[in-house]
Amino acid sequence: MEVNTVAVVGAGTMGTGIAQVSCITGINVILADVTQAQADLGAAKIAANLDRLVAKQTIASADRDAALQRLTRGSGFDSLGSAEIVIEAVPEDPATKLRVVREIDAVAPEGAIIATNTSSISVTKLAAVTSRPDRFIGLHFFNPVPVMALVEVVRGLQTSDETHDEVHRLITRLGKTPINVKNSPGFVVNRILLPMLNEAFFVLAEGDAAAADIDDAMKLGCRHPMGPLALADLIGLDVLLSVMRTLHEEFGDPKYRPAPALGELVAAGYLGRKSGRGVYRY
Ligand code: 3HC
Repeated sequence: MEVNTVAVVGAGTMGTGIAQVSCITGINVILADVTQAQADLGAAKIAANLDRLVAKQTIASADRDAALQRLTRGSGFDSLGSAEIVIEAVPEDPATKLRVVREIDAVAPEGAIIATNTSSISVTKLAAVTSRPDRFIGLHFFNPVPVMALVEVVRGLQTSDETHDEVHRLITRLGKTPINVKNSPGFVVNRILLPMLNEAFFVLAEGDAAAADIDDAMKLGCRHPMGPLALADLIGLDVLLSVMRTLHEEFGDPKYRPAPALGELVAAGYLGRKSGRGVYRY
């Protein structure tokens, strides 16, 4: 099946990124959020990003206009109508994801694929609350979506080969590189990367080095494009905390315990770039 229309549920950082990449590729996009105002805000972010790309002469203004023509906004779950694939990108909270996945399953067209952009929640568990676990899959995009080349294609225990092959083709069409992963806590990237970011909060809290020095250490010493604390702010400290909690719980291994200093920042509402303050102020 050729995908003509993608619905993205959740117009936050990841959802708008996925919607942007899809509409610029020539795919129709329905961007849905709880309220029309939230969906409109997401669409405005996409328009602003595409304007920047036009200003930098990365895309032509006609391409921007055509992409925005393909983007429609909706509120709630009634707008998912004609989508061949619905990608959920709501906040990384297990109860929220389970509720949203159930609601999508109730309204998505028969035969449509449901994909989750979860960072760490079990794809098999999410699939099991739907009536179509064979048509359910994980599509883990990376932040910032328009820039990052990788998508982890995560098979739940019941994902069919057909579903896997269809989304594999879609990801390639979006200009991204898919890797195949079996459902497992944190998949590949987050299982390796996020404990490193978490460790940076221990180093910071123990007073071993200042934030800027920790970041410089990993940039200059390991050639990482960003230091771990700046990257944590980009990802969202709440997302980092939530993934660490999942790794800790699922593996039952103390090496994944979230750094208390990270929990403190999240409790204060310092969530990183998106809230204007995390480790750093923006
Ligand atoms: N949205 C869209 N485009 C963006 C962007 C954003 N938020 N941020 C940067 N860009 C674009 C710029 O426009 C620029 O495009 P151009 O090459 O066409 O001019 C390009 O990216 C490079 O940007 P800059 O020159 O401003 O800055 P840098 O060279 O420092 O790159 C970066 C910025 C791409 C964010 C780079 O620092 C980087 O790769 N950082 C690491 C990001 C990373 O590791 N992400 C994965 C996080 S893990 C994750 O998402 C999983 C989740 O489940 C937790």
